[in-house]
Amino acid sequence: MGAVYARAVANGALRHRARLSAVCDTDAARGAALAAELGAESFTSVDEMLAAGELDAVYLAVPDAFHRDPALACIAAGVPTLLEKPLATSVEDALAIHAAAAAASALVDVNFSNRWNPPFVLAREAIRGGEIGDVIGINARLSNAHRIPESMPWASTTTTGWFLLSHVVDLAFWLGGSPARSVYARGRKGALLERGIDTYDLIHALVGYENGASGVYEAAWRLPNGLPSPVDLKFQLIGTKGMFAIDTTGQTILIAGDDLVVTPGVLDWTEARLHAFLDKVESGVVDDELLTAGLENTRLLVALHRSIAEGHPVEIAAEARS
Ligand SMILES: NC(=O)c1ccc[n+]([C@@H]2O[C@H](COP(=O)([O-])OP(=O)(O)OC[C@H]3O[C@@H](n4cnc5c(N)ncnc54)[C@H](O)[C@@H]3O)[C@@H](O)[C@H]2O)c1
Repeated sequence: MGAVYARAVANGALRHRARLSAVCDTDAARGAALAAELGAESFTSVDEMLAAGELDAVYLAVPDAFHRDPALACIAAGVPTLLEKPLATSVEDALAIHAAAAAASALVDVNFSNRWNPPFVLAREAIRGGEIGDVIGINARLSNAHRIPESMPWASTTTTGWFLLSHVVDLAFWLGGSPARSVYARGRKGALLERGIDTYDLIHALVGYENGASGVYEAAWRLPNGLPSPVDLKFQLIGTKGMFAIDTTGQTILIAGDDLVVTPGVLDWTEARLHAFLDKVESGVVDDELLTAGLENTRLLVALHRSIAEGHPVEIAAEARS
């Protein structure tokens, strides 16, 4: 993701608005290659990068379980930060980032990027326009072909809950408008474990919301590599007056040959997302909407993983919310 966002800044229309000045990666060769490609300076330590120059903004995309330290370093340096989802994989880390940002009046925008994904933008407008009525239920899944976890060096340090359902449950929170109250989840391990990757092949979750709605969610890391796209995203929301059903998997085009079927990515919302962040940076806006959503997201996903481990539904205490 760091490379995707860096290239969007350096090569796309965003280059008229922002300049990529530095790349930081603890993998020195990886970072140096990207920096050389895009004409930026290369660092292997976030602290050294922050100390070396006056950065106007940072985009932070490191593995799910390790967001806390670099995020706290950016906050301490007073640099507005676009921090990848999930905010953190523990409530303690999420609260630490939230508290540090509040104390420093620092902007930390959690990158729930699907809020800029065109079909979800339209769905949000339909809800706000009253076309759907009150939300009753959500049925959604986001899954990947197994080559994705198999090519990810840190797959054993995360799950499809953190990597994939973080998107889905944030969309449900954003579109459904209600915090989660309870979650019952099951996780299945086996196929990835056999390949030395200690994480779930699949997670199923049933979530109850404070407004009485419920959500059913699935995230698998075991779809076949032969699918035309490695990403399968379906999202259906039912309301008292209407519904919407989103399927981004086809991407509006299918290209087929005798030995090939692909659905190349057409929907791309990277620039829209980065423009929204830069609007806040340039105008000095420090709001905590996405940071608070990130905290809500982490609380639900921590409860979801506890439910898998303990085998029973887990309540998410309302008083735990700050
Ligand atoms: N918003 C989205 O659509 C989306 C999509 C994919 C991934 N993500 C999120 O982005 C984050 C990164 O995922 P990825 O797929 O890009 O992973 P990746 O493995 O491709 O890249 C992570 C990079 O971070 C580097 N790194 C690790 N620790 C570091 C540190 N302390 N300082 C600097 N560099 C460090 C690694 O060497 C690696 O190059 C994850 O939190 C993931 O959930 C978001």
